[in-house]
Amino acid sequence: MARIITFASSKGGTGKTLVVANLGVAMAQLGQKVMLLDTDITMANLAIILGLGRQKTTLHEVLAGEARISKAIYNGPHGVMVVPSGISLNGIQRVRLDRLKKVVDELARKSEFLLIDAPSGLGRDAIVALTMAQETFLVVTPDIASLSNALRTKIVAERFGVKPAGVIVTRATGGHVDIPGDEIASTLDLPVLATIPEDQEVRRSVAFGEPVVTFRSGSPAAREFKRLAAALVKASPAS
Ligand SMILES: Nc1ncnc2c1ncn2[C@@H]1O[C@H](COP(=O)(O)OP(=O)(O)OP(=O)(O)O)[C@@H](O)[C@H]1O
Ligand SMILES: [Mg+2]
Repeated sequence: MARIITFASSKGGTGKTLVVANLGVAMAQLGQKVMLLDTDITMANLAIILGLGRQKTTLHEVLAGEARISKAIYNGPHGVMVVPSGISLNGIQRVRLDRLKKVVDELARKSEFLLIDAPSGLGRDAIVALTMAQETFLVVTPDIASLSNALRTKIVAERFGVKPAGVIVTRATGGHVDIPGDEIASTLDLPVLATIPEDQEVRRSVAFGEPVVTFRSGSPAAREFKRLAAALVKASPAS
């Protein structure tokens, strides 16, 4: 059974999808069986960030009861397995979120790590994604809006019995306007597991449709993704 982690933040655009994509590929590079699941039903972009293009069968069709999950698993870089969400507006309407738990159970049986990319906000879709995992990593940018939203996500996670296990700070500039890591840790009462710097190679990698860990493996962001991947693999009892 996989260790299941949801990557969440109520604020949009903090870097959840990038973290899931890059961490997943970095863990696959370390020989782990990694499954990535895009639960952003309405704004899917995990497959795009991984350069996978558009797929015929996605989580939409599975949650609509029209396809089996095995038909919606695709191979990404270094053998990472990816379940994309669809982009068709028609598909969104047929989705039944109550079918997600069964899908997650099946995916967990096929992998050692199941990383779930959650939608932003605290709507029903985001809460369902949160409750699919035993634990959640909060993905925050070092600013007050992101931090206060993350606190709300943390409280909601706890209310549903999901353990907030740590914080991933993204887009850190190191400048004096960034909220320092120790303040983020004390506000959320959680350890900061990684601090991904603002790195222009990340934006370039997105434009080229390749995760930065392979696109520019020596860049500061890629190095931090790989450090976190190694720490998670090391901490995993299954490895
Ligand atoms: N470390 C970074 N360095 C530079 N740019 C970054 C970094 N992290 C994120 N970005 C930029 O922020 C954009 C949004 O990232 P991403 O899509 O991963 O956020 P998200 O939290 O998944 O957003 P949403 O809430 O919409 O799902 C990226 O396309 C990229 O341009
Ligand atoms: Mg996203």
